[in-house]
Amino acid sequence: MDYNRPDLKLARKRTNGNTLEIEYSLDDKYKNIGNGKIYNVITFGCQGNEADSEVMSGILEQMGFTNGPKENADVLIINTCAIRENAEDRFYGTIGGLKALKQKKKDMIICICGCMPQEEKTITKILDKYPQIDVVFGTHNIHMLPEYIYRAQKSTDRLIEVYSTEGNIVEKLPHIRLSKKKAWVNIMFGCDEFCTYCIVPYTRGKERSRRPKDIIDEVKGLVEDGYLEITLLGQNVNAYGKDFKDMNYTFSNLLLDLSDTGIERIRYTTSHPRDLDIETMKAMQRPNIMPHLHLPVQSGSNTILKRMNRKYTHEEYLEKINKLKELNPGISITTDIIVAFPGETEEDFNETLRLCDEVDFEGAFTFIYSPREGTPAATYKDQIDEATAHKRLDLLHDKINAGYLKGNKRFEGKVVKVLVDGTSKNDENILCGYSEHNKLVNFKGNKNHIGTIVNVKITEAKTWFLIGEEVE
Ligand code: 5AD
Ligand code: SF4
Repeated sequence: MDYNRPDLKLARKRTNGNTLEIEYSLDDKYKNIGNGKIYNVITFGCQGNEADSEVMSGILEQMGFTNGPKENADVLIINTCAIRENAEDRFYGTIGGLKALKQKKKDMIICICGCMPQEEKTITKILDKYPQIDVVFGTHNIHMLPEYIYRAQKSTDRLIEVYSTEGNIVEKLPHIRLSKKKAWVNIMFGCDEFCTYCIVPYTRGKERSRRPKDIIDEVKGLVEDGYLEITLLGQNVNAYGKDFKDMNYTFSNLLLDLSDTGIERIRYTTSHPRDLDIETMKAMQRPNIMPHLHLPVQSGSNTILKRMNRKYTHEEYLEKINKLKELNPGISITTDIIVAFPGETEEDFNETLRLCDEVDFEGAFTFIYSPREGTPAATYKDQIDEATAHKRLDLLHDKINAGYLKGNKRFEGKVVKVLVDGTSKNDENILCGYSEHNKLVNFKGNKNHIGTIVNVKITEAKTWFLIGEEVE
């Protein structure tokens, strides 16, 4: 069998080659092949994957498929994440469970895609141990989904189509968005940072930005459709536009142009501290650019930051934070932190705790370092033992949780604007949504206001959320 398999060494290559812009359209050949059939998509990982899953749903519905439960699916897609080992383990747990489902429904087509297929070891394992998987494709070719389904319907041969290219840009993709009010908008793809622990630059290709007009038109369309909030997505949005050869147009230009579209709320993720510039900090003063920044620091130790290839120091990070706070008083800052990176000493870790105090993070995603095959850090000799890693994670949690609470307490007695998502999971009579500072708010209010932005008076702050009542 001829397979197109990934190659991590090839995936590392970066050339000066131009990025191809492809316009997606559905060939007539595929238009009705899903009529009367059901699809389901299971998504692991980051918002980038969630956005890709919305695109795949859009493509499948164009082909005639209807969304339904996974037990009844004719096409089941699992969109995977490779960022840490536990994400991969969860995928293998899920796929193991699907063996019985496939035995019951023999013509079910099971596809896997996303970051895991971009790793050689995943393909080897799937070929060896998981005959229930029919189609495997990667991050560079989700627009080819119609052809893969078409071929899988015609033949029982397994299809493996993974490309380790630098990547192109595909426009005019359809989306079935999960929310009618909040939308993900990809502004760029890939990553050129090559932090030494991270697999993403290998699985997602080079940094490449969508043209401003394509993004602005998409957002104008969303405004017309009644969307109130967009989240701009990219692995390193602050590098937006740096790859344009014909114009000088960067992330702050995009923020300002999108702010002019009239969309009520703009958020963005993820930022790289080195590339965050003053122009972007100033653009955040616009009222429809939300006063929250997620700025992953990863470590507070200069030795570790250097070994991580982060290209900034503790002091430089802090300087940017102080400037950001000066230009945007009251802004909420959250971060990502990795503990137990190879060689991390007690002193290094204490530097991270010190930075948390200096910045006053109001939340963080915290991780124990997970070696990723093919990345430089996985070969470092001074890996940290599990007990030490857990001890540090616990200490960090205490610090971060105190920051969450402190960040929430400052809103007690204040009125905040909340975009109402719906009713609370635990209580149908309580509404929930997010404030401008990205705080989860549970409150008593009018159910007719779901999908709108309302004023909420905060009566109590908890560690993970705020409690309040809707006011005029
Ligand atoms: N181990 C642990 N955490 C990681 N991250 C990325 N790669 C790894 C790894 N190998 C974390 C970083 C990043 C977030 C998305 O995931 O903190 O910001
Ligand atoms: Fe990974 Fe670093 Fe790129 Fe983020 S900036 S995706 S951590 S390599």
